[in-house]
Amino acid sequence: MGSSSLLDYLSILSLLRLVILLLFLNFSTSLATPSTELTYGHFLHCLVKQTNSADEVSNIVYTQANPSYTSVLRAYIRNARFNTSSTPKPIIIVTALTKFHVQATVICAKSTGILLKIRSGGHDYEGLSYTSIEKPFVVLDMFNFRKINIDIHNEIAYVQAGATLGEFYYRISEKSKVHGFPAGACPTVGVGGHISGGGYGIMLRKYGLTIDHLIDAEIVDANGKLLNRKSMGEDLFWAISGGGGASFGVIISYTVKLVRVPEKVTGFRVQKTLEENATDLVLQWQKVAPYIDDRLFLMVILKPVNSNVNKGQKTISALISGLFLGGADEVVPILDKKFPLLGVKKENCTEMSWIESVPWWFGFPSGTPLEVLLNRDLDSANFFKRKSDYVQKPISRDGFESIWKKMIELGNIGLFFSPYGGRMSEIPADATPFPHRAGNLFEIQYFVDWFQPGEALEEFYLAQSRSLYSYLTPFVSKNPRSALQNYRDLDIGINHHDRNSYKEGKVYGLKYFNNNFYRLVKIKTAADPEDFFWHEQSIPTLPRNGGDKR
Ligand SMILES: Cc1cc2nc3c(=O)[nH]c(=O)nc-3n(C[C@H](O)[C@H](O)[C@H](O)COP(=O)(O)OP(=O)(O)OC[C@H]3O[C@@H](n4cnc5c(N)ncnc54)[C@H](O)[C@@H]3O)c2cc1C
Ligand SMILES: *[C@@H]1O[C@H](CO)[C@@H](O)[C@H](O)[C@H]1NC(C)=O
Ligand SMILES: *[C@@H]1O[C@H](CO)[C@@H](O)[C@H](O)[C@H]1NC(C)=O
Ligand SMILES: *[C@@H]1O[C@H](CO)[C@@H](O)[C@H](O)[C@H]1NC(C)=O
Repeated sequence: MGSSSLLDYLSILSLLRLVILLLFLNFSTSLATPSTELTYGHFLHCLVKQTNSADEVSNIVYTQANPSYTSVLRAYIRNARFNTSSTPKPIIIVTALTKFHVQATVICAKSTGILLKIRSGGHDYEGLSYTSIEKPFVVLDMFNFRKINIDIHNEIAYVQAGATLGEFYYRISEKSKVHGFPAGACPTVGVGGHISGGGYGIMLRKYGLTIDHLIDAEIVDANGKLLNRKSMGEDLFWAISGGGGASFGVIISYTVKLVRVPEKVTGFRVQKTLEENATDLVLQWQKVAPYIDDRLFLMVILKPVNSNVNKGQKTISALISGLFLGGADEVVPILDKKFPLLGVKKENCTEMSWIESVPWWFGFPSGTPLEVLLNRDLDSANFFKRKSDYVQKPISRDGFESIWKKMIELGNIGLFFSPYGGRMSEIPADATPFPHRAGNLFEIQYFVDWFQPGEALEEFYLAQSRSLYSYLTPFVSKNPRSALQNYRDLDIGINHHDRNSYKEGKVYGLKYFNNNFYRLVKIKTAADPEDFFWHEQSIPTLPRNGGDKR
């Protein structure tokens, strides 16, 4: 990913001319207006002025004509839907190497009126970190910010936005076998988007969310200032603890409190189909999973599969994946007593260290070296769509049976059920922007994956997800129908960056944040009154007439 050495020899002026020329060659005709070329020329000129070095700028700037542009862009695309020739692409990618580069990028994008998207791990379900409905735009890519410092003595860690969760877990385990961190299950997820957007994983019933363990943060705000918790103040710090970083600034790092984990944890999986009374299993799960010992996380994965019993017909497979923070001797009697239908015996359990449970949970074959957690070199992904919901009242047997029927009829869409309760019910709903605490039995994630490009195919699968979502309306939370912000879903609303911004933002904002939305809007209005940090689902500023009365 080196930069073109040719550029190193060019003066500022010829650099600009070259860039303008290259932009011109790469713009589609509709965008190739002299004014956009000039804007990008001004942006680059500003960067050169800020850094006082054309060399430095050419090292971190990738225009569409740079031979490495495509590989840089692709390196952190995690949904093949946004990896097509028609996907809107950034005019420029800035791969900042220093905090000052981040400040300069913000200052220059703001002063030249350029839309900036921020990317860390690239896992946004809707690709919002590297695509845009507003064209043209620049991506500030944070993958070079991956410093991790673990201070085991004080049980704290400093982790930069571009580090992955896998790297973070691995570095913790190098220092201690009895410490861990309660964040997401997927090792390649980036810290920048994950933590600022909430973040949860398999320890959530014991330790709550990632954002329940934040001590400090470094951000670059809308004025290009580098701030920490003290200098940004408690309001802004609260906002970037789950309100989504990209509405408020560029996250450079978080400092977090580590948690204790036992030397031994226990995993198990049980799978049943409808013919094996999966419905009974799920009904018992619903009664047990949100209330059982908070060291136990019992996730259900439901999907339509071919029936082995009734040939040529479909059934539903219910897979229960469990992790217990403790040994098999302790968990088997707990399950025997509370969840007998699961039928887990000691021989069905896998005991391992906490760090080994990370690849185990994610489905790597046992014996996979832990270094797999350090792998960020993927450049491959499925096409997929996700949606989310919250269940607050138990679903009846009839209810589940009708849902299975609908899933079988649709054929391709599955559901994850993640139980809440435990620590999640103890933390007040306004302690952080994340509002889905007490009163939620479990969270649903809808999932559908496909493997070929094409609009018709995409529409086919998207329609399935919308159909099941609509079907589940009577079973899930209402007023608002809640959603999990880190499971980005543009179906629930888009902000078009115009005078309706507040009205549009309120629609998804209430779903993601409930009444915390109003505090987020106030903080946003104070921190970024010009709405520089806009994206399709960002927190809007208050309209000048004051908006509604909250
Ligand atoms: C395979 C997979 C598994 C997942 N598993 C889990 C899970 O177990 N638990 C869970 O809670 N979530 C999970 N997620 C969702 C994940 O937490 C979110 O997609 C998260 O936002 C990804 O962060 P990122 O940095 O990788 O993504 P990006 O796409 O880089 O960013 C996501 C959002 O955050 C913004 N952003 C990124 N970096 C910064 C920054 N430095 N400063 C300001 N804003 C920034 C982006 O602009 C974008 O709006 C999963 C996602 C995938 C694809
Ligand atoms: C399913 O439940 C029925 C009724 O309780 C029982 O008779 C049957 O044996 C069960 N089937 C399996 C495979 O467990
Ligand atoms: C537990 O293991 C035994 C022995 O391998 C097996 O027969 C049984 O089906 C397993 N039970 C579950 C719930 O997986
Ligand atoms: C993007 O597309 C390219 C070329 O079609 C392919 O090689 C690459 O693996 C894809 N990456 C992702 C993340 O889908």
